[in-house]
Amino acid sequence: MEKPFRRRDLLGIRDLNAAEVRGILDTAENFREINSREIKKVPTLRGKTVINLFFENSTRTRTSFELAAKRLSADAVNISVSSSSVTKGETLVDTALNLDAMDPDCIVVRHGSAGVPHQLAKVSRAAIVNAGDGANEHATQALLDAMTIRDHNGKIEGLKVAIVGDILHSRVARSNIHLLTKLGATVKVAGPGTLVPSDFGHLVESGLTMCPHVEDAIEGADVVMILRIQRERQDSAYFPTLREYSIHYGLTTARLELAKKDAIVLHPGPMNRGIEIASDVADSSRSLILDQVKYGVAVRMAVLYLSTGGSMGSS
Ligand code: CP
Repeated sequence: MEKPFRRRDLLGIRDLNAAEVRGILDTAENFREINSREIKKVPTLRGKTVINLFFENSTRTRTSFELAAKRLSADAVNISVSSSSVTKGETLVDTALNLDAMDPDCIVVRHGSAGVPHQLAKVSRAAIVNAGDGANEHATQALLDAMTIRDHNGKIEGLKVAIVGDILHSRVARSNIHLLTKLGATVKVAGPGTLVPSDFGHLVESGLTMCPHVEDAIEGADVVMILRIQRERQDSAYFPTLREYSIHYGLTTARLELAKKDAIVLHPGPMNRGIEIASDVADSSRSLILDQVKYGVAVRMAVLYLSTGGSMGSS
């Protein structure tokens, strides 16, 4: 079946142009105010159905997609994979086809393998939204990060952003590198040599620099984004010990001093306190980590609205 909306599926930031990214952020801005009302509910998506299909654990993303759907009056259904027929051997595509047969408007999917949302988009009539696929992309995380940065700095173009940590396994890093360079930021990435992939070389002309030392990335930065060490995706030893990782790559107050004096600190969560980020930095006034979570609801409201047929900026 022909999909009527050109961007009904949100599979990644890589596929979007700068105007589309700005359009999603502007739509999220329009929805933001609803989340601070006493009655946090509008009828915008009444009669629509959203299925959250998460094959990996999640606190922030799943909860905020559910809240976003409910605040827009959509019916939200969460599928727990551990109690679904996936455990009886049903294939991923069969699972999607069976869910699709119940006529949902949108399926939000998180999976440990890269490319799963793209695979489901080929067989599903419902819009598919990528909530994280392996180490590939986490589009709505990058959008909420961008909303946080734009809210604090008033712009993204021209800013210097340092992304530090386990770049190799990070879908957050990939989506952010695509988004931030599309919107005109300069991005520097740093981490242990074993955790910084070389497949970003083609983005160097777009404003990406790979730094040998974490200090080189953080120096003069407007935004310092710290990534979680993803031990669940590491099939071998990428660095000697967590203590050594913390010493050489962890964000401490001393390292943050290298950034601009009003630089902000972001982390997508969940945090490993004392490993990639010191607790005093995570809890400082420069940390906007909980703002990121807050803006996640507005971003996901915008994405559900646009994926189910809404127009950019007209929420
Ligand atoms: N940032 C993020 O994706 O967090 P969750 O895994 O809790 O959804």
